[in-house]
Amino acid sequence: MKALAVFPGKPNSLHLAELAKPSVSDIPGGRGVLVRVLRVGVDGTDKEINAAEYGAAPAGYDFLVIGHEGFGQVEAVGPAVTELQPGDFVVATVRRPGTTVYDQIGTSDMTTDDVYFERGINLRHGYLTEYYVDDADFIVKIPLGLRHVAVLLEPLTVVEKGIAQAYEIQRRLRVWRPKRAAVMGAGTIGLLAALVLRLRGLDVTVFGQRLAPYRNSNLLEQLGARYVSTRSTSIAQGAIEFGPFDMIFEATGFSPIVFDSMQALGKNGVLMLSSVTGGDRRCEVPSDKINLAFVLGNKVMVGTVNANREYFERGVEDMALAEAEFAGWLQQLLTHPVRGLENYGQLLETLTSAKDAIKVYCEVAPIDDRYSGQEAGAERAASVASAPR
Ligand code: BGC
Ligand code: ZN
Repeated sequence: MKALAVFPGKPNSLHLAELAKPSVSDIPGGRGVLVRVLRVGVDGTDKEINAAEYGAAPAGYDFLVIGHEGFGQVEAVGPAVTELQPGDFVVATVRRPGTTVYDQIGTSDMTTDDVYFERGINLRHGYLTEYYVDDADFIVKIPLGLRHVAVLLEPLTVVEKGIAQAYEIQRRLRVWRPKRAAVMGAGTIGLLAALVLRLRGLDVTVFGQRLAPYRNSNLLEQLGARYVSTRSTSIAQGAIEFGPFDMIFEATGFSPIVFDSMQALGKNGVLMLSSVTGGDRRCEVPSDKINLAFVLGNKVMVGTVNANREYFERGVEDMALAEAEFAGWLQQLLTHPVRGLENYGQLLETLTSAKDAIKVYCEVAPIDDRYSGQEAGAERAASVASAPR
C-alpha cells in the first residue's frame, strides 16, 4: 500500500513510499484495530518535518510516514476488542507510552522522558497511508453525525487539554468563575480555542495580525467572539478595553507574544502556552514589571503539549456541542482538501503557500455516505437485534 513519507534529516524529501498492509494480528493480546484511512490533516509540524527540522524514523526504517491528524473507518478488529466494530468511524491518538509513571497511567502526554513516541512525528509511522493498525486503547470512536468534521479532532485535542488543565490548575483558588478570556492567534488552534471557550460561556477576545474583516474574523463573529487586529490595537490596549483576562490561550507560534500575554493576564489568571517554537529567537522584556504583577496577582503560566485519550473524548463531546450550538461552523474550517495520496506535491504546496487556509487535509478515500445517520443507526440496531446471542 501507498504511504507519504520523508527521510528524516533530509530536507524536502516528501515522497510516496510502499508499505505492507498491516493486520490486526500485528497488535498483541487480540486488541488490534485495522483502520482504513479516509482523511488526514496537515499542519506546521508536517512542514517542519519535511524541512528536516523535526521528526525521526521508527527503528528499522530510514523513512517516517507522516500525518498525525487522522480520521478513518474500522475495517477489522481483533478478538479482544469489544468497544469497536467494522464500519465505525474513528480517530487515533498521537503519542504512545514511554517509560515513566505518567506513561503507565495513560497520560503519555505528561511524560518526563526526553525521547517521546508520536505517530507521524517521532519514531512511529503516521496516518498518511491507506491503512494503519493500532491498539484499541488508542482509538476513539466518532459518532456518525460528526464524520464530516472529525479530521479536526486532533488539533482540537491540543485546545481541550490546555483548557482542561487550566480549570484543573485553578482549583487552587477554591472558587474560580472565569468571565473573560483572550486567545492569541486566529489560526486553526486559535479558532478552536475560541470555540471551546465560547462553549464554556466566556466572553472571548481573539488577537490576530490581519485587519478584519477576513474569513477567520468572520468565523469568530459567528461564535460571538470578538476579533482584535494587533495592527490597530495593541495587546496592552486590548487588555484594558476587553480584559482583565481570567484566562489566555497562546497559539500564535511567535514566542515574544508570550511576554505580552503575561502582561495582559488578570489577577489570579492562568496563561496557557501551546506554540511549538523550534527556533532560537530572543527578545527583551520588562522583567521587573512582569514578575511583580505575577507575584502580587497570584498568576499562573503553564505549557501544554499533545493530548491523551481523555482529551480526545472531550473533543468529541465539544464537537457535538458545537454542532448543536453553532451548526455548520466546524465544517467551514475545512478549507483546503487535496484528493489522493499521490497528489502529495499539491498537498505540500497548499500547506506552504495557501496563506488563507485554515485546514489543509488529504482526502485519502471518500467518506461512505450511502446512509444518513438515522438509517445507519437503524440498520445497526437491527443487526444487533438479529445477531445470535
Ligand atoms: C501535534 C501534537 C504534538 C506536537 C509536538 C503538534 O503538531 O499536534 O500532537 O505533540 O506537535 O510534537
Ligand atoms: Zn499537529
